[in-house]
Amino acid sequence: MTSTLAIETSCDDTSLGIVRRDGESFVVDQLLAYSQVPDHQVYGGVVPEIASRLHSEQIIKVLSALDPQLIEKVDNICVTTTPGLPGSLVVGKTVAHMLAEWHHKELVEVNHIHGHIFSLLLERDLKDIEFPMVVLTASGWHNDIYLIEKTDSRQQDSSIELEWPLQQCGPFTIQKLGHTLDDAAGECFDKVSRMLGGPYPGGVWISEKAKKYTESETHDESQKITFKRIFLSKDGFNFSFSWMKSQVSILTRKREEEGIPLTEDLICAVAYEFQEAVVEVLAKKLIKAGHAYGAKTLWISGGVSANDRLFEYANGLLKEKRIKDTRILADRILTPIKKVYSTDNAAMIGVAWLLQSTDIA
Ligand code: KG4
Ligand code: ZN
Repeated sequence: MTSTLAIETSCDDTSLGIVRRDGESFVVDQLLAYSQVPDHQVYGGVVPEIASRLHSEQIIKVLSALDPQLIEKVDNICVTTTPGLPGSLVVGKTVAHMLAEWHHKELVEVNHIHGHIFSLLLERDLKDIEFPMVVLTASGWHNDIYLIEKTDSRQQDSSIELEWPLQQCGPFTIQKLGHTLDDAAGECFDKVSRMLGGPYPGGVWISEKAKKYTESETHDESQKITFKRIFLSKDGFNFSFSWMKSQVSILTRKREEEGIPLTEDLICAVAYEFQEAVVEVLAKKLIKAGHAYGAKTLWISGGVSANDRLFEYANGLLKEKRIKDTRILADRILTPIKKVYSTDNAAMIGVAWLLQSTDIA
C-alpha cells in the first residue's frame, strides 16, 4: 500500500488531501479545501495577487485540519508545480518542501493537467479501465484532448525524457491530440455568465438557466436564437470558443441598442443555446478523437465535466454513433465519480503521483 499527502494551489483553491492505493483502487482518506471563489467573485474573475495572499493565509489552516495520524503514515508529499499562477504555485511548493523536511518524507512534483486526466481513476478500479483512452480536459484555463496509452515496458526507460507532444506519467504515455486556440470552454461559460448578468464562475449558473429554458412550456419559435458551432477543421482536434462568446456579446448588444430589455426569458434562451453549442462541439470532437485512435474508454475531466447536459448529450451521441458504426469501441463516456473531483482538487494530484509509482498489468 502506498499513500501520499497531496497539495494543490495552482489557481483559486487551497486543497490538501490524503490519497492511497489499495490494491487496484485509489482511495481518498481525507480531502479538505478553502475555496477562494467568494473572494474573487466581486472582481468577476481570479485576481492573481489576491489568490497568492489567500493561499498563504489559508494553507496552514487547511493543513491543521488534516488528521495528524494519517499525515504520519504517508510515504511522501506531492505538490502541483505546473501549470498555474506562479504566485499561487509557490505557496503550495513552499509548504510541501517544509512538510517533506519536517516529516523526513520524499517530495514529488506533479503536473496539474496529469491530475485532471487521472482524476477519473479516483474511487474506481484500475482493472475496470480499458486502454487506450481518450480524455477531454475542459476547465476554466485549459481545453485539450489527450490519448493515454500504456507504455510498452520494453520501450519504457525513465531516464529518457519524452518530447512534446508526448509525456510520461508512470506507466502511461500521454499524447496531446488537440487544444483550444483561444478561450477554454469554462472560461467561455464564465464570460457569457458575466454578459448575461450572472456570477463568476458562471458554469453552474448558465446550466441552471438553460434547464429553466427546457422546463418552460412556452417558447416563441419566431424568437429562436441559434449560435453557430465552430469546429475548425473537420478532422482536427483543436477548439475555438472565442467566436461563441462573441456571438452572445453581439446578440445582447444588438438587443440593448434596439431597447429590448434582457429579460429572464431571454437570458434563459441565450444560456440554453450557448450551452447546447459548446456541449455539441466538445462531445463531437471527443467521440471523433476516440474513434480515430481506437479508444476503448472515453473520459471528460476538469470543471466543465461537472456539466450534466454535457454528460447526457455526449453519452446519447455515442450511443447513436455506435449503432451506425460498430468499429467505435468505447461504449460510454465517463466523468469523475464525484463533482468535487472534476474541479481543481488535491485528490487528483495524489492519484497522478500514485500512478507514477505504479506497475500495471
Ligand atoms: O477545473 P476547474 O476547477 O479550474 C480550472 O483549472 O480552471 O474549472 C473551473 C471551470 C470554471 O470556468 C467553471 O465555470 C466551470 O469549470 N464549470 C462548469 C460547471 N461547473 C464548473 N462549466 C459548465 N458547467 C458546469 N456545471
Ligand atoms: Zn484545473
